[in-house]
Amino acid sequence: MQEFEAIESIRQHLGALRSTKRTIALVPTMGALHQGHLALVAAARESADIVVLSIFVNPLQFLPGEDLARYPRPLEHDRALADAHGVDILFVPRAEEMYHGTPETRVVPGATADRWEGAHRPGHFAGVLTVVAKLLNIVQPHVAVFGQKDIQQVTLVRRMVADLDIPVALVSVVTVREADGLALSSRNVFLSETDRSAALAIPRALAAMRGRWADGERDGRALERVAATVFAGTPRVKPDYIAVVDPDQLAPVEHAAQGTVAAVAARVGSTRLIDNIIFGEEPG
Ligand code: PAF
Repeated sequence: MQEFEAIESIRQHLGALRSTKRTIALVPTMGALHQGHLALVAAARESADIVVLSIFVNPLQFLPGEDLARYPRPLEHDRALADAHGVDILFVPRAEEMYHGTPETRVVPGATADRWEGAHRPGHFAGVLTVVAKLLNIVQPHVAVFGQKDIQQVTLVRRMVADLDIPVALVSVVTVREADGLALSSRNVFLSETDRSAALAIPRALAAMRGRWADGERDGRALERVAATVFAGTPRVKPDYIAVVDPDQLAPVEHAAQGTVAAVAARVGSTRLIDNIIFGEEPG
C-alpha cells in the first residue's frame, strides 16, 4: 500500500496508473475504520483495479459544538487495517492541504439537504458535498463507494454527481451490523455500556417497522408510530426524527412501497446515531 499526503503527488501517481488503463475506485472515509468501511473496500475491490481509500476528518461538515475535536483518529490502526484489506493507495491529506487558506467556494446542495440530518445539522451537507467534490476531483475515480447507513449523504452525492456531470459511477453498500443489530459507526466508541445497550432500540424500531410493513401496513405515518412506540419504551434514547420517505427526495410518503426508506436519528447520552432500512430489501 502506498500512502500520500499531498494532492500533487497522488495526482501524479494516479495519472500514471490511469494511462495504463487501470480503473480506480475511491472509498472516502473519515477514518476510525471498522467492518463497515471494510465492506466498502471489498465493494471497491470488486468494481475496479486500484482501490484508493481517503481518510480526512473534514472540518467543513462539523457544526460548532459538534464532535470534531473528539472524533477518533487512530491512524496507525487504520493504516494497518487498510493495508491488510487490499487498499492500494491511502490518501491522508492534512486540513491545510485540502483547504488552502480560507476557501470561499462551497457546493451548495438543494432542498433535500434541508430535511432530516440537514435540519438538525444546518450546513453539514454543504461541507460533505464540498469535500466529496474535491476528493472526486483529486482522485478522478471511475467508481466511488459510500455506505447506505448515511442514506441522505448517498442521495445528495448521487444528486451532485448528476447535477454537476461528474464522471463517476456511485456504489452504495448495505449497512454492516453487529450481531445484535446495532449499525457499525465510528461514533459507537463513544457509547458507554449502558448507552450501547439502550441504543439497540434503534435497530429494534427499524425491525418493528419492517415487520409491520411485511404484515401489510403501508401507511407512512402509521409505520413511523410503530418506531415511536419502541422509542417510548426506552427513554434513554431520544429520537430526533423517524421518517418514512421516498429514496430520491427523501420526502415523507403516504404509501410505503418497495424501495421506500425508513430513517431514524436518535441521541443516546451525548452520542447521536443514525440508521435506516429500505422496505423490501434485506437488512445488513
Ligand atoms: O461518510 C463519511 O465518512 C464522510 O461524510 C465523507 C463521505 C468521507 C466526507 O467527509
